[in-house]
Amino acid sequence: MKITAVILAAGQGTRMNSDLPKVLHPVCGVPMIAHSLAAVKAASSETPVVIIGHGAEAVREFLGEKARCVIQDPQLGTGHAVQQAESILRGKTDLVLVTYADMPLLRPETIEGLVETQKANKGPLTMLTVSAADPRGFGRVVRAPGGSVQAIIEEAAATEEQLSIHELNVGAYCFSADWLWEALHKIKVSPRAGNGTTTQKGEYYLTDTVALAVQAGLTVQALVSDDLVETIGINTRVHLAEAELAMRQRINRAHMLAGVTIVDPASTYIEPGIKIGRDTVIWPNTYLRGKTVIGEGCVIGPNTIAEDTTVGDCCEILAAVMEGAVVEDNVGIGPFARLRKGAHLCKGVHVGNFGEVKDSTLGPGTKMGHFSYIGNAIIGEDVNIGAGTVTCNYDGVHKNQTEIGEGAFIGSDTMLVAPVKIGARSRTGAGAVVTKDVEPDTLVVGVPARPIKKLNEAKDD
Ligand code: UD1
Ligand code: MG
Repeated sequence: MKITAVILAAGQGTRMNSDLPKVLHPVCGVPMIAHSLAAVKAASSETPVVIIGHGAEAVREFLGEKARCVIQDPQLGTGHAVQQAESILRGKTDLVLVTYADMPLLRPETIEGLVETQKANKGPLTMLTVSAADPRGFGRVVRAPGGSVQAIIEEAAATEEQLSIHELNVGAYCFSADWLWEALHKIKVSPRAGNGTTTQKGEYYLTDTVALAVQAGLTVQALVSDDLVETIGINTRVHLAEAELAMRQRINRAHMLAGVTIVDPASTYIEPGIKIGRDTVIWPNTYLRGKTVIGEGCVIGPNTIAEDTTVGDCCEILAAVMEGAVVEDNVGIGPFARLRKGAHLCKGVHVGNFGEVKDSTLGPGTKMGHFSYIGNAIIGEDVNIGAGTVTCNYDGVHKNQTEIGEGAFIGSDTMLVAPVKIGARSRTGAGAVVTKDVEPDTLVVGVPARPIKKLNEAKDD
């Protein structure tokens, strides 16, 4: 059975007061529209269709290959919006799943439940509802005395009696496609919601399809959500902050239930899709972003930011900023360290305070305790990088490489003027400025550094 999602994202979002289209505002680091796409993914079999209008180009650019975009111009309501998908979907799908792009907390499980309910429904549509004390301006679900759904009445058109109904239309529906296209042509224009007059141009309400089905003697099913939080819709930045908090709590809770200790969930910011191993402890004010993966048994934070970074098992990372880095097992970082793109710390590495590493590999067991910059370098196993060591990698035009062989000992305050190689087991004296390659097993000192002694030579008998 072919199931296609149609996500409505053409509305202006006036109340956000923003130059950024509403659906591109991030919730837990990810634009709202991406959450909507993630929610419908498991339940649908085809590439989703997104109806765009306000800020269309920016939304289209963000979506790229993830969706087929259809422009709605002018925007004449949710029914009119869905109608825009007819030309590309007619005859190509069995079910149409409709959601609104300003509801980032909708869960995939709920959407799957909606589709399953419709598959079992002989009638043409199933809708998602929720019971809530605060109606938040949502459409009210009118039921017959026997309990069957009769209509959705928008707040602006509701009678006093209807306003007191607590079952609300969430804004997620699953339709039989053939029926939907016909029904959309029958919807009558309603006065624009919220202003209560018919003098302005009206809207075509998708919600009117419910009464159309009932009038034709067809059954409308309602799936009642038991999770009020997932129905938070965003119209203002106040709602945006509510959604951010709710999603943060949801993400943190899932990690905790999976065996991660989060010492203070209120100050721990983990984006969706981050993987964290068991028995890792996350201290407050930690941000895990993008495609970050954290292994088991680590201690992360306090005060740590990791973006697109992979961390192995049993690492301790305190007050560090890491972007695009790879950290293997048993590595210690910080406090106050920075790993930039391309930093690769092998097993057992230690990077202490005020260390910066970029586009460099530090071999297993290498130590870099204090105040160092390592850029564009390949460093072997068990190297000691003394306090204040700097790879002078930039000559004003090019980034040049430094290589340090295994077991080398770089004295404090050494300047490695790249391109340059330090041989295995060699040493540099404190304050050396190394401008030429150093052979293995050699001690160099001074400015510019020169060899003064061979090291580690086999002793005579
Ligand atoms: C809608 C529902 C209401 C429900 C509420 C839940 C209708 C008529 N009403 O009201 O029953 O309780 O959502 O949040 O559907 N959009 C377009 N093109 C348009 C108009 C809207 O793409 O011409 C998009 C918007 O970008 C938005 C979504 O559709 O993502 C919903 O539109 P909105 O104006 O927010 O509807 P509500 O008044 O909230
Ligand atoms: Mg809305």
